[in-house]
Amino acid sequence: MRYNVSDIKALKGRRKITMLTAYDYPMASAVEKAGIDVILVGDSLANVVLGLDSTKEVTMDQMVYHAKAVRRGAKNTFIVGDMPFEAYQKDVNDAAKNARRFISEAGCDAVKLEWFGQALEAVSAVVRDGISVMGHIGLTPQTADELGGFKVQGKDAGAAKRLIEQARQFEEAGCFCILLECVPDRVAEMITKRAKVPTIGIGAGPYCDGQVLVTHDMLGLFDRYTPKFVKKYASLSDDMTKAFEEYKKDVAMGRFPDEAHSFGIKPDELKKLEKEVEKD
Ligand code: KIV
Repeated sequence: MRYNVSDIKALKGRRKITMLTAYDYPMASAVEKAGIDVILVGDSLANVVLGLDSTKEVTMDQMVYHAKAVRRGAKNTFIVGDMPFEAYQKDVNDAAKNARRFISEAGCDAVKLEWFGQALEAVSAVVRDGISVMGHIGLTPQTADELGGFKVQGKDAGAAKRLIEQARQFEEAGCFCILLECVPDRVAEMITKRAKVPTIGIGAGPYCDGQVLVTHDMLGLFDRYTPKFVKKYASLSDDMTKAFEEYKKDVAMGRFPDEAHSFGIKPDELKKLEKEVEKD
């Protein structure tokens, strides 16, 4: 069953919500088959798929292109399109128009926006347009430079209080869910207890209403760096390299392709052909 926003909100206090990222058809299909509640087409696409250094570099066109593939692979899962930097932080007036692209072009159910100076303006514009928004606070990679880099946020009482306030403001602006990235577990607990909408944590401890991981991290598919909060459930990058080495050896030794992976021709047809060729 494909959830809607009310279903997701109703899960708060009943059971934990699961969310994973996906960027293409096969990954989305596998995530849906596993029964994960929500797929995020994250702008982490920039790092883990496109090999770029910063999520700020991924474009709206690239995000929509990948979101379309994800929808093809997961027709029955709630999908959130992650608004890239250029979609709303360059000019907040572009927020609603770009959020609409995720819904109408890619078939997403909602969008996600990161906290920044004009985040509430952006959320209000998108919500006014009838689009559901997930708010993202804590470590917000699109403005990581202003936060002192990729560091845990809300570590002292003052900073934690500001996060609690941001969550409250996002909720008031109409966000249906708040994502908390790299926040101390007890601060995430406070935010979760105060919020009427669900919280989804990544590096935010066990007290959130749900959890999200970047799929390429948890599968060991992206190994340029691995944050402390990632639990690895597989080592796919190693498995892929092993498979490619095996294939290389098979081809070199003439073990592949064998009869089982080749197409035959009937012996009488082959004979006919040989005669024809001899004539030439
Ligand atoms: O882009 C992304 O993958 C994210 C993570 C926090 C899940 O926003």
